[in-house]
Amino acid sequence: MKVAVFGASGFVGINVANALQKAGIEVVTSDIRESPHLNAEFVPADLLEYDQVEHVVKGSDMVVHLAASPLPVSVEKPKLNARINIEGSLNIMDAAREHGVKKIIFSSASSLVGEVNYNPVDEKHPATPKTPYAVAKYATEHYLRVYQELYGLDYLVFRFFNIYGPWQYPESGALIPMIYKKLKEDGSFNVFGNGGQSRDFVYVGDLADFYVKAVLREMKNEVVNLGTGKGTTIKEVVEIAGEILGIEPTINYLPERPGEIDNFVADVGKLEVLFGEKPATRLQKGLKDTFRWIEEF
Ligand SMILES: NC(=O)c1ccc[n+]([C@@H]2O[C@H](COP(=O)([O-])OP(=O)(O)OC[C@H]3O[C@@H](n4cnc5c(N)ncnc54)[C@H](O)[C@@H]3O)[C@@H](O)[C@H]2O)c1
Repeated sequence: MKVAVFGASGFVGINVANALQKAGIEVVTSDIRESPHLNAEFVPADLLEYDQVEHVVKGSDMVVHLAASPLPVSVEKPKLNARINIEGSLNIMDAAREHGVKKIIFSSASSLVGEVNYNPVDEKHPATPKTPYAVAKYATEHYLRVYQELYGLDYLVFRFFNIYGPWQYPESGALIPMIYKKLKEDGSFNVFGNGGQSRDFVYVGDLADFYVKAVLREMKNEVVNLGTGKGTTIKEVVEIAGEILGIEPTINYLPERPGEIDNFVADVGKLEVLFGEKPATRLQKGLKDTFRWIEEF
C-alpha cells in the first residue's frame, strides 16, 4: 500500500503524513513547497501542472488530498481559488482514474454549509456556501461523486470542523494560535459579540488517526463530518487557554460582525457509525499539547 499525500507541507499535511508513516504505511509526500518536517519521500508538484501531479500519483494505491488555497485568499482572488481548488483537484482525480487509484480521501470544509439552520449540523444540512473557498469545496465534493458514478473512482470526503494543534502557526490567522499569541503578548483577546458563539474544535492528532483508519479500512463513497459533536464557546476557549498559560485573560467585547454564525457544532452520528468512534481528545489536553509545541518549536 502506497499513499500519495498532496498538501503534505501544510498544517494538517505534516500531521497526517507523519501519522501514516508511523502506522507503517508507505507514503509519498507532495506540495508546491517542501517542508523540513516531513520524513517521507518528497516530490514537488503544483496542482495546476497535470504532468507534475501525475508523476506523484503514478505508482500510488491511494491519494490523500489536503492541498488548497486558503479561505481568506479566496475572497480577494476567487478565480485563483477556483483554479487551485477545483481545477487542481480535477488534475488529481484525472491522474487517479488514469492510474487505477483505489480511493481519494478529500479534505472538505464544514463552512460549505453557510447559514446554519439547526444544530448539531449533519451531512444532510442544506449547503449555501458563503465564500468562493466554500463554493470550491462543495463543487469538489460533487465532482468526486460524479467521477465515482462515471468512472468508478472511489472517494471519501471528510468535512473538517475547527482543526487545531501542532504545526498550525499564528500567521495562518487560525483562532487557537492567535489566542496563544495575544494572551502571551498582553493578556487580552478581542471577541465579537458576547463570545458565546460555539464551535467544534478537533485536535489534529485525532484527525490524523481517522486518516490512518480511512486508509486501512474499506470505507468509501461517503461524505462524513469530522468533528467532536461538542460545542465550546469562543469565550470558554480563551478562558481555558488563560488557565493553561497562567494568565487571567482580559476579554474585549467588540460589536457583533454581520453574518457571524451563532453556533456551529457537528453531528457526529455518521462518523460514529462508520468508524465506531469520534475524536476524543479533550480541549484542555489538546490546547496544553498545542501550546507546549508552540513553546518548544
Ligand atoms: N485547518 C482547518 O481548520 C481546516 C478546516 C476546513 C478545511 N480544511 C482543509 O484541509 C486541508 C488542509 O488544511 P491546512 O490547514 O493544512 O492548510 P495549509 O494551508 O496549512 O496547507 C495547504 C497546503 O496546500 C499547499 N498548496 C497550495 N497551493 C498549492 C498548489 N497550487 N499546488 C500544490 N500545493 C499547494 C500549500 O503549500 C500548503 O502546504 C485544506 O484542503 C483545507 O482547505 C482545513
